Amino acid sequence: MSSAASAYAQAPPPSQPAGLPRLLAGVPAHGALSLQEHLEIHGEAPRKPRRRRRSESPLIARIEAAGLLGRGGGAFPTARKLRSVASAGRRPVVVVNAAEGEPASLKDRTLMRARPHLVLDGGELAASSLGAEEVIVCVCAGARASAEQAAAAIAERSRAGDSSSPRIRLQLVPNHYLSGQESALVSYLNGRRALPTFTPPLPFEQGVGRAPTLVSNAETLAHLALIARHGPEWFRELGTPSEPGSALVTLSGPVAHPGVYEIELGAPLSSLIDAAGGATDGVRAALVGGYAGSWIDAGRLPSLALSDEYLAQHRARLGAGVVLLLSEHACPAAETARVARWLASQSSGQCGPCVNGLQALAMTLTETARGVARAKAEERIARLASLVQGRGACAHPDGAVEFILSAVQIFGSEFADHARLGTCEACALAGELPIPDAAARAHGGLRRARLA
Ligand SMILES: Cc1cc2nc3c(=O)[nH]c(=O)nc-3n(C[C@H](O)[C@H](O)[C@H](O)COP(=O)(O)O)c2cc1C
Ligand code: SF4
Repeated sequence: MSSAASAYAQAPPPSQPAGLPRLLAGVPAHGALSLQEHLEIHGEAPRKPRRRRRSESPLIARIEAAGLLGRGGGAFPTARKLRSVASAGRRPVVVVNAAEGEPASLKDRTLMRARPHLVLDGGELAASSLGAEEVIVCVCAGARASAEQAAAAIAERSRAGDSSSPRIRLQLVPNHYLSGQESALVSYLNGRRALPTFTPPLPFEQGVGRAPTLVSNAETLAHLALIARHGPEWFRELGTPSEPGSALVTLSGPVAHPGVYEIELGAPLSSLIDAAGGATDGVRAALVGGYAGSWIDAGRLPSLALSDEYLAQHRARLGAGVVLLLSEHACPAAETARVARWLASQSSGQCGPCVNGLQALAMTLTETARGVARAKAEERIARLASLVQGRGACAHPDGAVEFILSAVQIFGSEFADHARLGTCEACALAGELPIPDAAARAHGGLRRARLA
């Protein structure tokens, strides 16, 4: 396997390993690829199947052979999801999920800003294979440039006038961690607040307007558009047998060029850091998978490979492709407590264990970081975590607990020092881990969004 990463945005042009970039091919430093430029790079999308219901379209078979896994965080097989929607009865709707509520992720807004036509191709192809007549592209209201490029690309396609294509419309969604959770997204598209709903029915059974609904991540659909053109064998030329293809990763922290990179799945973390110009400071640990992910100690990073199969031995997953390096200058205890408070603030307030448990965990971590915790704080954290895990209507509390428990494990000595001695000098520094601004934290953020 070639070790590999190719870069976008802040990074200078890297040396390009064979086969990469795919999604980011030809991306300009500013603005988006026009429809014409997009077609020059990738050629026409294959002829769309006629818009009638097909329980087994050739595209679904190709996606299955390619082994495409969803890039929205859950790594669910895309073909299985397509098949469930196809066999669910009524005419379906396709939702492109570019809500990207994860604070440390920029990949979906980058795709929407720079490669909107690739994502729209994927949405259209999925819709045509399912017999859907509508594609709804959901972009976070705070990602203004991405929303504008998506709107311009939709208008450009409409002017190009292909009457056999499904209707595509853009929907802005609130700036909130939960907005991209699929049942919250469907609730919002049905005119309600963007809150996760209790299931069943799941969106694939009854989603937007009660129609079976495919909710797929923007990056997933961009891969689908390329598989439709180049086939499953081409897709499998990169990656590992169980995790084929490339993936977008948002790398941040002390590297020369933080940004969004396209990697081969299974590539070493070291090749990603090299592509980003190398580390500019000592690294204490890496957070893999974002704020629902896990910390990995610096000592293990040189041999780390970016695939779920490899990361499993560290109880970690790539999730939506977030790698965040924490510098040696940061205070891990203060950083963990700060993110835990933010994660608690993102609960939608519907499930007791999530609301109360995440608040109690955040408070215990904050008291520990400030050296004012009651005795046996570590035992309390473990007990609270066990009361929260698996007790929510959505996976938010499970992700938050994963983040917290891995922090307590990896930064055990720092937490112990803070419990004994109180705050350290680094506690007073500005936090390194990104937290969205206060306006986005309020639950009001779950109401209707406008491009202000
Ligand atoms: C708290 C929470 C937030 C989520 N946010 C997003 C998001 O912003 N974007 C996204 O694509 N998926 C998000 N997901 C996952 C979606 O629910 C869904 O699984 C995904 O959009 C499916 O797309 P995929 O199969 O292409 O991965 C989130 C899940 C949870 C539990
Ligand atoms: S688990 Fe938490 S975030 Fe999810 S629906 Fe329940 S209260 Fe809301």
